[in-house]
Amino acid sequence: MTYNKKSIEDINVSGKKVLVRCDFNVPLKDGVITSDKRIVEAIPTIKYLLDNNAAVILCSHMGKPKGEVNMKYTLAPVAARLTELLGQDVKLAPNTIGDEAKKMAAELKCGQAMLLENTRFDKREEANDPEFAKELASMAEIFVNDAFGAAHRAHASTAGVAMYGGLPAVCGYLIQKEIGVMGKALSDPKRPFVAILGGAKVSDKINVINNLLDKCDTIIIGGGMAYTFFKALGSSVGTSICEYDKLDLAKGILEKAKANKVNFLLPVDNTIGREYKEDTTFMRIYSDSIPDGWMGLDIGKTTQELYAKSIEGAGTVVWNGPMGVSEWPNFAAGTNAVAKAVAESGAISIIGGGDSAAAVEKLGYADKMTHVSTGGGASLEFLEGKELPGIACLQDK
Ligand code: 3PG
Repeated sequence: MTYNKKSIEDINVSGKKVLVRCDFNVPLKDGVITSDKRIVEAIPTIKYLLDNNAAVILCSHMGKPKGEVNMKYTLAPVAARLTELLGQDVKLAPNTIGDEAKKMAAELKCGQAMLLENTRFDKREEANDPEFAKELASMAEIFVNDAFGAAHRAHASTAGVAMYGGLPAVCGYLIQKEIGVMGKALSDPKRPFVAILGGAKVSDKINVINNLLDKCDTIIIGGGMAYTFFKALGSSVGTSICEYDKLDLAKGILEKAKANKVNFLLPVDNTIGREYKEDTTFMRIYSDSIPDGWMGLDIGKTTQELYAKSIEGAGTVVWNGPMGVSEWPNFAAGTNAVAKAVAESGAISIIGGGDSAAAVEKLGYADKMTHVSTGGGASLEFLEGKELPGIACLQDK
């Protein structure tokens, strides 16, 4: 999917109230933000608007409060972090479209920013309710969507404001960057183009694999989904995660890879464990056949070396999904080895959000990558070639 959308630079924002949808759905532990990447990545758009004399009304969802007010999901920690990063006060409204929020928005001056409370505290948000969208739009004169991470959701604050709000609707710098880098990789990749796909299930990644089979030179498979391919090829999988109802799908992928002359790599050795537990007994086996009573939990050392070799000469690398249970140290080696290989490859490297992005950040390789996406589901859907409703609704250039 290629987009050519108007951005904040294509519209006069001076003296205007601007509603900006961000994805401030950041991970929290005991009320403390554990990764502020999504907030940091929103700053260039906010700063541009403030520097260009706009009054900035920010909004976002956080978590899944299911349409009810639940202060576990308040955006208060985000308002505090925004205040630090912008070096100016960002007040949090006590609600999203209530009288207090509207009063604060009405009184907001150019050069100031405020944040509305969690959009998902109202069930009309996820229903993409036109009235809710209109209420949000009524506070502003321009709508900017910069929430790439939520762009695959057709919700009131992502798509609805642009659809029903009657405001000029453009994208911010983050959406522009995300679709620019990933769009280029998909439409005109520097070759060889290598995709690394991991994660638990083939069914989660089937559309990505199918789309990339038409574009890539090499596809590297890791994570739990490797065992569905093993089974489809007739190998034993022990108690590994395996989608027995997706074996034909896996066979179809293997056939398409062959027909398209895509180098389709599966693990040749594995680290296996007795149980799905962090401290389970584990060992390495030099085989793609998992013995009874054992489950595959990571790719083995030989596979790591083979995969690293394929990544080494790549022109473009797209990576989505871990190679093993990377949050457990005994089964993180495969993901770590792939992260290192991508970081050192010199290729244009694009890391889909979620677990692979978290691994890259934890290992300190984020700066070595061309692009670490802020989207989990959104980047996956973009790689699938699907239209993202939060972007499709914006004005074309
Ligand atoms: C994400 O974390 O992927 C986005 O913020 C979207 O969140 P959601 O999956 O709850 O819609």
